[in-house]
Amino acid sequence: MITKEYSKDLSGKNTFRMAVSCRSFIEYDSVADLFELDFEEMLQPVKHIGAGSNLLFTQDFKGTILHSKVNFIEKLPHDHVSVGAGVVFDDFCAWAASEGLWGPENLSYIPGEVGAAAVQNIGAYGVEAKDIIKTVYAYDIEEEEFVKFDVSECAYGYRESLFKTPEVKDRYIITHVVFALSRQPRPRLDYSKALSALKEDPELTPLKVREAVTAIRKEKLPEVGKVGSAGSFFKNPVVTAEVYDAVVKAAAGAEVPHYDAGDGMVKIPAAWLIEQCGWKGRRSGNAGVWEKQPLVLINATGRALPEEIVALEDKIRSSVKQKFGISLSCEVEHL
Ligand code: EPU
Repeated sequence: MITKEYSKDLSGKNTFRMAVSCRSFIEYDSVADLFELDFEEMLQPVKHIGAGSNLLFTQDFKGTILHSKVNFIEKLPHDHVSVGAGVVFDDFCAWAASEGLWGPENLSYIPGEVGAAAVQNIGAYGVEAKDIIKTVYAYDIEEEEFVKFDVSECAYGYRESLFKTPEVKDRYIITHVVFALSRQPRPRLDYSKALSALKEDPELTPLKVREAVTAIRKEKLPEVGKVGSAGSFFKNPVVTAEVYDAVVKAAAGAEVPHYDAGDGMVKIPAAWLIEQCGWKGRRSGNAGVWEKQPLVLINATGRALPEEIVALEDKIRSSVKQKFGISLSCEVEHL
C-alpha cells in the first residue's frame, strides 16, 4: 500500500527532531509498490530516508520524502537471512540474537533501518555492516528495474559505499538486504575492555554480546526519543603519519589515542580532538555537545533550529582545524 501526505511535519521523522516540513511525503509497504510510483511526476527533489537517524534537515524540504515500510525478516538456507529495508536495524539484531545467530550483535542498539545501514555501512565495536552483508537488492529509479549487488560490488569503506558516491547517489532504492549469519560462534570482542571480559564466558551467546553492547551504548550515547541527535556527527579522521606527528606535537604531552588504518595511515578519534578543544558537554544556544561523547551533537532543549546545529558544527570544525590542522568531515548528511 502507498500513502501520500502533503506539507508534512518531519519533526517525528528525524532523530535530531528538527521541526521542518516537506512538500510531499510518500510511504510504501511492499517492494512491488515501487513499480506503481511515478518518480518523474513527484515534486522534486526526491529523497529516500530511513529512520532519519543520520540526517540533518537544514531547512524545509522542497520536494518529496520517500520512506520504506518493507518490513520482513525471512530465513534462507545456510543461515542467510533476507531483511526488508524498512526493518528497524536493532529489531533485526534482536531477532538474530533470539535465534542464536551470530553476526549483527556488535551493531545492537544503533538507531536506523536496514536500508540505510547498507547505504551508510554502519559500524560499531569492531564490526561494520559490510562484514555480514551478502547481497543488496535495490530498485533502479533511472532504468525502472530491480537490481542486485554482491557485497564486493558495493565499494564499502569506513562509512562509505557505492550508494553514497555522487555518480549514483539517490539512484538506487534499497528494497532488502541478505545477511550471511552463522550458528558457529564468532564473537568479536577486542574493541573494548567491557567486551573483552566476555571472553572468559564458556557459554557465550550472541544475546549476551548484544546485551553488553546495548549497555555500553546506553551509558555513552543520548537516548533516541529523549535527546535529539544523529549519533556521531563527524567521522574519525584517517591521516598520514606526518599529520599524526603534527597532532602529537600540538597535543603538548597529552597522549594521542590512535589506531592503525592500514597503508601507513592513522585513525585518530574525532571525539578526542573535539574534547581537547574544550567542547565536551558545552552548549551553544539550543544546540550542544553530548557530555559523555563529544562526537555527538545534540538538540539540547528540543527547540534547536537547524542553523544553531550548523553554527556549532562550524565552530567545532574551526577549533579542531586551528589546534590540530585537521579538517573534520561530517558523518551526518545535510539536506
Ligand atoms: N574519546 C575521547 N573522549 C570521549 C569519548 C571518546 O577522547 O569523551 C576517544 C577515546 O580515545 C576513545 C575513542 O575516542 O577510545 C573512541 O571512542 P568510542 O569507542 O566511543 O568510539 P568513536 O570512535 O568515538 C565510533 C563510531 C560510533 C560507534 C563507536 C563504537 C564513528 C564516526 N563513530 O565512535 O558510531 O558506536 O565507534 O564502535 O566511527 C555512529 O556512527 O553514530 C556511532 C555512534
